[in-house]
Amino acid sequence: MAMLIKLDHVYAGYHDSLVLEDVSLTVNEHDFIGVIGPNGGGKTTLVKVISGLLKPVSGSVYLGNELEGGKRIGYLPQINHFDRQFPVTVLDVVLSGALNRRQWFGGFKGEIREKAHHLLEKTGIKTVSSQPIGSLSGGQAQRAFLCRALMTDPLVLLLDEPTNFVDREFEKNLYQLLSELNESMAIVMVSHDLGIISSHVKTIACVNKTLHYHDGPEISTEQLAVYNCPIDLVAHGPVPHRVLKVHK
Ligand SMILES: Nc1ncnc2c1ncn2[C@@H]1O[C@H](COP(=O)(O)OP(=O)(O)OP(=O)(O)O)[C@@H](O)[C@H]1O
Ligand SMILES: [Mg+2]
Repeated sequence: MAMLIKLDHVYAGYHDSLVLEDVSLTVNEHDFIGVIGPNGGGKTTLVKVISGLLKPVSGSVYLGNELEGGKRIGYLPQINHFDRQFPVTVLDVVLSGALNRRQWFGGFKGEIREKAHHLLEKTGIKTVSSQPIGSLSGGQAQRAFLCRALMTDPLVLLLDEPTNFVDREFEKNLYQLLSELNESMAIVMVSHDLGIISSHVKTIACVNKTLHYHDGPEISTEQLAVYNCPIDLVAHGPVPHRVLKVHK
């Protein structure tokens, strides 16, 4: 399978503090990698390094040729809150994912607009497409940002806690959508919910300053303890499952 992105002995962080140390990870075609780890462990930082938004302090990031210098990486950032005053419509947000496809005289080709409408329909927010993004619920906004990430026809889709704000109904649809998308793109998804991770991803990266890669969707309690990934057993819904404990 073709290599899309390779992190080789990467050290990364902010100012003087290192968040990731000696991290190596390869994203291949058709991968679906779940990223887990405690709060502050460096999951978002890892995703930023993969996306190219954060340059490593040392080590290397190699991109496969098809990624066109990183243009075909879709990124849904972790959203904790968003600016409700932001004066653009939902459709504008989605189209902003295709800025590199704008025509030289401005505006987007009809096919790009069609694609935006198709994605809005697929994620169930077409009816609100002309509303200001700030008028949407958190879950609807999350879907709009997912549409934006998909506008680049990504070969690698990075999702940082995509189910924040999203209701149970759309969560099911989301995983169905992701498994369809996974046929044509690799997915790297950060999640706190190990139950979700185990049932949808193919492999797991456990991040807590360093990265431990598991070549399968299951990870044992003992392994998590060794990697300093504290876990908790919780039961919400009919099946009890494990989620990561929140660090103080
Ligand atoms: N822009 C930034 N400037 C300085 N420090 C930062 C910045 N972003 C993150 N950090 C620090 O880097 C560390 C790792 O943060 P990161 O956001 O990667 O963790 P995370 O695993 O995604 O956590 P969470 O589960 O809360 O999303 C934290 O200690 C955080 O305070
Ligand atoms: Mg994070």
